[in-house]
Amino acid sequence: MKKDSLSITDNRSGKTYEIPIENGSIRAPDLRQIKLDPDDFGIMSYDPAYMNTAACASSITYIDGEKSILRYRGYPIEELAEKSSFLECAYLLLYGELPTKEELEHWTNRIMRHTYIHENLVQIIESFRYDAHPMGILISSVAAMSTFHAEARDVNDPEIREKQIWRILGKLPTIAAFAYRVRIGRPHNYPDISRGYAGNFLYMLDYMNERDYEVPPALSRALDVLFLLHADHEQNCSTATMRSVGSSRVDPYSAVAAAAAALFGPLHGGANEAVLRMLEEIGSVAAVPAYVERVKKGEIRLMGFGHRVYSSYDPRASIIKKVAYDVFEVTGGNPLIDIALELERIALEDDYFISYKLYPNVDFYSGIILQAMRFPTDMFPVLFAIPRAAGWLAQWTEMLNDPAQKISRPRQIYTGYAQRSYVPMEERTSPRTTRT
Ligand code: SDX
Repeated sequence: MKKDSLSITDNRSGKTYEIPIENGSIRAPDLRQIKLDPDDFGIMSYDPAYMNTAACASSITYIDGEKSILRYRGYPIEELAEKSSFLECAYLLLYGELPTKEELEHWTNRIMRHTYIHENLVQIIESFRYDAHPMGILISSVAAMSTFHAEARDVNDPEIREKQIWRILGKLPTIAAFAYRVRIGRPHNYPDISRGYAGNFLYMLDYMNERDYEVPPALSRALDVLFLLHADHEQNCSTATMRSVGSSRVDPYSAVAAAAAALFGPLHGGANEAVLRMLEEIGSVAAVPAYVERVKKGEIRLMGFGHRVYSSYDPRASIIKKVAYDVFEVTGGNPLIDIALELERIALEDDYFISYKLYPNVDFYSGIILQAMRFPTDMFPVLFAIPRAAGWLAQWTEMLNDPAQKISRPRQIYTGYAQRSYVPMEERTSPRTTRT
């Protein structure tokens, strides 16, 4: 008779164990009953980088990597990109439902009322060297925000949590814009909440006292779509970091700073910056085949390609590719797009990339749009972190409210020395030759 369980026989003892299957998975602690001796710890599962381990149950984002499916709370990303906005998606991720008109107005109003940052924080941002990487400034500034809002440590109070969420979503664009203005030696533009979330951000970055200054609507819409596409992506490296750091019940500013640090890595959110540097290194369409050969030899990675979950096209990349042309209508074309299109054409036909299931991911085209909008390359991960904060905060809230969750503390398989005695200095012979 069919049963939702595994029957596991331990061939060392001949004993058989019944392990229940729920939601297509087994609970790893159920393996601990498999022992040879009552004093044994029992069997553990070993899964470096969590290749096949669910660390949580979540109802926020659904991805099907085979079918190129991405949904926020059940809504397909393609529909949201066409009909929604970043702030509406942020509300959806956090509260689980699309907001009513009044709810969206209140949510938008609360966030836009929290776009100013403390003048001490402005001084912290201005204390960085002119050439400091903006992600370093953002990570440091968000962590510093924990010192301005001591009440944020009460993470179990929903009202206090909600106010910190407004503050983080409201202030991140201001921190990013102020970091950029320090870099170019220009005075700050303080937030203008009449311009909308993305429009205000572009205004703070760009305004130089021009008369009747307006942000081109196509650019603020394009940035808003980029923001909503980057808002959440289930248990990626930075979100897993947010959950793990947040599980110690630290304040959300410290947890967001940790998540942003994880995102900064070139294998994760730093890839959009790496894509641009790669395209600039390739330099021309004619040079693409030689570059692809180097990738196939394993000398280098094709940045913006491949994904831990998608073994097919990243649905966000398809949408971003369309947005690129809307941006080029305003900014003029971008010669790097021809190199990117040729790289994509070759990669999608080549057996090497097909065998490794390497398709363009979200970072492949986003960098090209941002460059066309004249963002400096090292601002690209910052533009990923701003919207991803909505996902981090939604996942953090879900973790705090999940009775199955507690402080994150993985086990290990110990492979070091057994017990040994201290060696007096005079008896130590061989100097350490290998560097760790
Ligand atoms: C993001 O997780 C998320 O959801 C992330 C993200 C999100 O929204 O949060 O989607 C955002 O981070 C997108 C990914 C951005 N990173 C890049 O574009 C960097 C380039 N891509 C890779 O380094 C890689 O594809 C990863 C990191 C994205 C995923 O790598 P995995 O799943 O850890 O796989 P792996 O590194 O073990 O690679 C498996 C094989 C290896 O070959 P072998 O050593 O087995 O022979 O595939 C090869 C790799 O060499 N490979 C690549 C490659 N990616 C994997 N070879 C060339 N170019 C690549 N891009």
